[in-house]
Amino acid sequence: MMLDASTTDARDEEARGILARNDRGGYTIPTAGLYPYQWNWDSAFAAMGFAAFDVDRAWTELETLFAGQWAGGMVPHILFHAQDDGYFPGPDVWQGVGPIPSSGISQPPVAATMARLILAKDPKRGAARIAALYDKMVGWHRWFMDWRLDKGAVCITHPWEAGRDNAPDWDAAMAAITPDGVGTYVRRDTTHVDSAMRPTKYDYDRYLWLVQRGAAAGWDEAAMLRDTPFRVADPTMTFILLRATRDLEAMGRDMGRDVSELQSWIATLEEGAQSLWNPKLGAYDSRDVVGGTWSGALSNASFLCWYAGVDRPEMAERLADVLGMAKYGVPSLAPSDDRFDAKRYWRGPVWAIMNMMIGLGLTERGYGLGEDLRVLTGDMIAEHGFAEYFDPLTGAPAGGGTFTWTAAVWLGWASPNAGGA
Ligand code: SER
Repeated sequence: MMLDASTTDARDEEARGILARNDRGGYTIPTAGLYPYQWNWDSAFAAMGFAAFDVDRAWTELETLFAGQWAGGMVPHILFHAQDDGYFPGPDVWQGVGPIPSSGISQPPVAATMARLILAKDPKRGAARIAALYDKMVGWHRWFMDWRLDKGAVCITHPWEAGRDNAPDWDAAMAAITPDGVGTYVRRDTTHVDSAMRPTKYDYDRYLWLVQRGAAAGWDEAAMLRDTPFRVADPTMTFILLRATRDLEAMGRDMGRDVSELQSWIATLEEGAQSLWNPKLGAYDSRDVVGGTWSGALSNASFLCWYAGVDRPEMAERLADVLGMAKYGVPSLAPSDDRFDAKRYWRGPVWAIMNMMIGLGLTERGYGLGEDLRVLTGDMIAEHGFAEYFDPLTGAPAGGGTFTWTAAVWLGWASPNAGGA
């Protein structure tokens, strides 16, 4: 569909309005009610969205995120700037040990990649901002390299860390956990959103059990690593860290920094990416390090390979397969998989941020499909609004509404006025 100019302009304005409404002063919440705090990767995408009309505000978003960085380099997945009882689990459960009340795990490090896009918008204005953020970003990437590698691939220690909370990628590792002593608790997410679109109680018991284990260890990575019950090598983290390290290296070189450490990480992560190749699936997959099994899931994270600068002809074939089954972009799980659930969070739905990263990667590698993905993502948002995620078969909006990262993807990439990120 060709979007006409007035629809496009109206959607642009709506998207800017969503960012403004979700702006809490220096940081942006994903959406009121369901997610009332600053989330790590949501925030980095928000920064990219702001850069379409306010480059200064874009840098501020990243600066606020890095104000929460822990002494060891980790940047938490949630910063609890101001208490909000509408969300569970809050700061009292997490007991983060950083300068701002926070969670104790991280999230996919898209920040350096978004910073490079923002810098390109106005290199002069961005020079001092990136110079101040650069070492913090390197410190964060070093934390992943120090604590989270398995065969060069990046592991998660909690499903929330990958951002793909209830993906089938973690099913085997989650099944190996008996969540004894987790106690009673009241979920808040299902008061905001239909429970059929959210993870189950079975999942939540295990999510909380892992949080309680980390908090009891004071979030000491060395202590948590001993007899770890959950460690999964993940394509989301591995491809996103590889991509972000390439972007950091490019920015460092331009600033005249010594980038040799970053170059060695790139080489390690390139090898790590290959350790995620599941020959039986014929695709990149998650590897349960504790249980020693593949997840067998063709997910949208599998297709982040191009974004990471990693190509493999079989992946283009897999992509053609899933796009033949889902016309609104790359579903979080291939519809042919028995575990596919069109509305349940990361077990089927399409996410605009994932479409964008996959699309950017495809375009950079010279695949025409990247532009197709951009256009269909734009059409989906224009038709169905700024939802958190979408049914991949019908495009129906799902999860939270007036969502920051969907508005950001529209402004920075999918809107016909964006001209690509
Ligand atoms: N995505 C999680 C939630 O739904 C936490 O990051 O609360």
